[in-house]
Amino acid sequence: MITTTPMAGITDSAWRQICKLWGADVVHTEFVSADALYYESEKTLKMIQYEPMEQPVVVQLFGKRPEMYAKAAKMIEVSGAAGIDINFGCPAKKVAGHGGGICMLRDMDTVKKIIFEVTNAVKIPVSVKTRIGLNKVQGNPDKGQITVFDFIEAIKEFKIAAMIVHGRSYELPFTGPVNLTALKEAGEKFKEYFPNSPYLINGSFQTVQSVIDDIKYTKADGVALSRALYGRPWLFKQIKDYIETGKYQEVDWEVIKDTIIKHAHLLWASKGEKGFREMRKHLLFYVKGRPDAVKLRQQLVAVDNPKDVEKIMKNI
Ligand SMILES: Cc1cc2nc3c(=O)[nH]c(=O)nc-3n(C[C@H](O)[C@H](O)[C@H](O)COP(=O)(O)O)c2cc1C
Repeated sequence: MITTTPMAGITDSAWRQICKLWGADVVHTEFVSADALYYESEKTLKMIQYEPMEQPVVVQLFGKRPEMYAKAAKMIEVSGAAGIDINFGCPAKKVAGHGGGICMLRDMDTVKKIIFEVTNAVKIPVSVKTRIGLNKVQGNPDKGQITVFDFIEAIKEFKIAAMIVHGRSYELPFTGPVNLTALKEAGEKFKEYFPNSPYLINGSFQTVQSVIDDIKYTKADGVALSRALYGRPWLFKQIKDYIETGKYQEVDWEVIKDTIIKHAHLLWASKGEKGFREMRKHLLFYVKGRPDAVKLRQQLVAVDNPKDVEKIMKNI
């Protein structure tokens, strides 16, 4: 099984559709605040809208107040999402800094209350995403660690449909290699309690070969891809081809151009003129590594609509 992970500022409807076109088995929304859904924020309600072709789409919730979750979860179920993921891994200051995200593992009672609220409120599958661990006490590694193993132990009584583990700690949030040994052992422990629920590894995947090697080593059911997909959503197809046939092909630039133009139109259709500026960062990802990338940059960061994108693509 190969999925996206939730990514704020990236996994919007257009990107999810592009990932599906290239073979993603499941796609995730950006993280969605349980509190904002509870209070029916208009901006947040837009985040739980999807196109039929995105399915199965999983909405990720974050927030540290258990009492917000049942209503938020029900709203997600009614919106037609295929599942709900709960964020127990975010290290961002505005989330973890207030005791949310990964820092919730320091308060397993709240973790349990949240999972209880969500699993009780809905019939759709509920998954969790976390990291391999964090210091028990902020900034003091000598006081010991809380690990993904403690987390699995705490949640074993609930109906967990899947788990994604990012193989880095809170203290090393996005850099360096993942801890493959911890990912492997976490998978074994998860399977003890949840033998039928997919276990997906996440973090630091760069090449088709490295993804396959890491899945094999950890005995995971699959992989959830994040930054590796930047500018190369075809990674889904390449990994699947490699698993099925032992080889995969590089993607022809004409096909890449088609994907870029499609992406631009999907973004325009979902976010309109105001949201279209977000295409600029994707364009820079798409051309990264091309010898003319620096020259193209000036044009790419000035696009205002899909026609601009088409014009640039015609000339390269
Ligand atoms: C820009 C950005 C936004 C992210 N947003 C979320 C999010 O909303 N929810 C979440 O669980 N993880 C989020 N993550 C973490 C990723 O899902 C993933 O776990 C992490 O990037 C590690 O994978 P990688 O090394 O393959 O990128 C985000 C990461 C990045 C770089």
